[in-house]
Amino acid sequence: MDHFLYRDGTLHAENVPIPDIAASVGTPFYLYSAATLRRHYQLFTEALGWGPHLVCYAMKANSNQAILKLMADMGAGMDVVSGGEYLRARAAGVPGERIVFSGVGKTKEEMRLALEGGVRQFNVESEPEMAALSQVATAMGTTAPITIRVNPDVDAKTHAKIATGKSENKFGIPISRASEVYAEAARLPGIEVVGIDVHIGSQLTDLAPFELAYQKVADLTRRLRSEGHTIRRLDLGGGLGIPYARSNLAPPLPTEYGRMVQATLGDLDCEIEIEPGRLIAGNAGILVAEVIYVKEGEDRKFLILDAAMNDLIRPAMYDAHHEIVTVIEPSPGVEQTPYDVVGPVCESGDTFARARDLPPLRAGDLVAFRSAGAYGAVMASEYNSRPLIPEVLVDDDQFAVIRKRPSFDEMINRDTIPEWL
Ligand code: LLP
Repeated sequence: MDHFLYRDGTLHAENVPIPDIAASVGTPFYLYSAATLRRHYQLFTEALGWGPHLVCYAMKANSNQAILKLMADMGAGMDVVSGGEYLRARAAGVPGERIVFSGVGKTKEEMRLALEGGVRQFNVESEPEMAALSQVATAMGTTAPITIRVNPDVDAKTHAKIATGKSENKFGIPISRASEVYAEAARLPGIEVVGIDVHIGSQLTDLAPFELAYQKVADLTRRLRSEGHTIRRLDLGGGLGIPYARSNLAPPLPTEYGRMVQATLGDLDCEIEIEPGRLIAGNAGILVAEVIYVKEGEDRKFLILDAAMNDLIRPAMYDAHHEIVTVIEPSPGVEQTPYDVVGPVCESGDTFARARDLPPLRAGDLVAFRSAGAYGAVMASEYNSRPLIPEVLVDDDQFAVIRKRPSFDEMINRDTIPEWL
């Protein structure tokens, strides 16, 4: 459930009519619902309420400072994957002890940054990374708490670009080599093993691959303990999918996920960490755009919007489906027309949807892409010199711009022309 609903024939974000925001901010823009974000976080903490746990929001999904503060105020931890994300989390008030540092290519500089500012754990992904961390921590006279990310060789059955748990993927160490690598960790100075980490992919719509991976983690926990290691924390990654198309079967809910985690890992006396991103932010955000032209092609109609692939790359990059709705509610029984929904960017990949049935639309009408709160604004670029679009947060009957649209001058003046040119 989200908080983008029609009321009196107009799409609202919580208690704010979307045309009011469009009039004040200009299109296109991202729009987030605070109530939806809070609810999604709550669902996860409740689902894991049977034991000690921390929900570490995967802030790569949406790392706006206002969103991070909202999450941090509820007690969320953060999963960060770069020095930039670490500093963003700290700037939004997340204490170091609630930050887990993931990522396959952490630099020594990033390790130093996190050790200085405080970190809950590093999720280490390779032996060379572990050696580097050992050097950095020892040089600083400190100890780095770590889990080691194991690759369980499980097929997540999701889009190839976002599957991470098969042996051919670049992530983690093969689970078959875990004993060896944990033994190495125990030998290294400046390293303290606290647990195991696993993450098999994103937009999973079935619990079975998770369950398979977590069973392997349960077995590994017992084995590593018998080999003398302290395993007190299990980081289970993120990945629970969301319903992008209303017609699709709904993916499992956090409650069902929580029950499955309890059944597979609940008897191990470990603290559970999870790293959801998409399920928290995805359906808490929409992208609002305006129709610039309706163009009649030879055998199709093109709906040309003022939003483009540089604003929302997911359809071009993953063939992702986003529901498109009109901001003014279509009258009941109105005939739908198939449109190719496109942006103004100069390549054919700038297509959001083909032959999408929509009510008749005219230039100036507003449309909204649903499920755009995760991996939307954060993946945007200024391709075609289109300034990054603003982000707006709604909470009940108030709204605020949480990232403003840069002016053309601001965009242009980020470049510098050398004196000698
Ligand atoms: N933890 C780790 C280590 C991850 O790599 C990811 C996502 C997550 C947690 C969060 O996964 P989530 O709960 O959001 O599924 N840009 C793509 C998604 C990339 C996901 C990358 N890793 C998209 O738009 O679909």
